[in-house]
Amino acid sequence: MIHLDNVSLSLAGTEGPVHILHDINLSVQQGETVAVTGMSGSGKTSLLMLLAGLEAPTKGTVKVCGENLTRKSEDALAKLRAHNIGIVFQAFHLMPTMTALENVAIPLELLGQKTARKRAAETLDLLGLSHRHGHYPSQLSGGEQQRVAIARAFIARPKLLLADEPTGNLDQATGEQVMNILFDLHASFGTTLVLVTHEQKLAGRCQRIIKMSDGRIV
Ligand SMILES: Nc1ncnc2c1ncn2[C@@H]1O[C@H](COP(=O)(O)OP(=O)(O)OP(=O)(O)O)[C@@H](O)[C@H]1O
Ligand SMILES: [Mg+2]
Repeated sequence: MIHLDNVSLSLAGTEGPVHILHDINLSVQQGETVAVTGMSGSGKTSLLMLLAGLEAPTKGTVKVCGENLTRKSEDALAKLRAHNIGIVFQAFHLMPTMTALENVAIPLELLGQKTARKRAAETLDLLGLSHRHGHYPSQLSGGEQQRVAIARAFIARPKLLLADEPTGNLDQATGEQVMNILFDLHASFGTTLVLVTHEQKLAGRCQRIIKMSDGRIV
């Protein structure tokens, strides 16, 4: 599902290039569940950005779902994401002018599926948001926005789900609900999970824990 070969990432900062990731080698099998841990600034989000094809490595190759992302056009990357990859960002990136239901339906509408709205409604219900379909992100709490973002990330049943602190802003009970939903998805559909988390409990439920420090896997 994932194969990173000697990957480094540098980005331009105001005082010259910032070296963010160094010589990352990583393989993840289809259906595996992996937690990515490490201190703030260690490069966890940057790693997810590479896996999603949202950043290109400065060095090395990134293969996801058998495809070499480094050689793909933006269009081809967008298609690969639409069909195979669900992403929950640390900041939720919901569309402010769209309701919760509309936000969740986006991936399926982009794929031209007529049942997009119906499936979006079902997914929101599953996440305990049946009373919030028509709310805009600004009318939702942080935890509710988190759940809308998760609903949107897995509505198209991606083979790979990348989530950055999926339970970070949730109270314990809601966090556990979200955790169960992620692992149910894994159990039912064989979804590969890569979860960035600080939470011991969530990391402990994954088959493998990867720790990052200063842009390296340690
Ligand atoms: N666009 C950018 N330009 C320059 N530097 C960046 C950029 N994005 C991230 N960085 C730097 O790269 C390092 C890694 O950032 P990253 O967001 O991957 O960390 P993180 O492990 O996700 O941290 P956190 O737990 O706080 O979310 C940080 O030092 C950050 O300041
Ligand atoms: Mg981060």
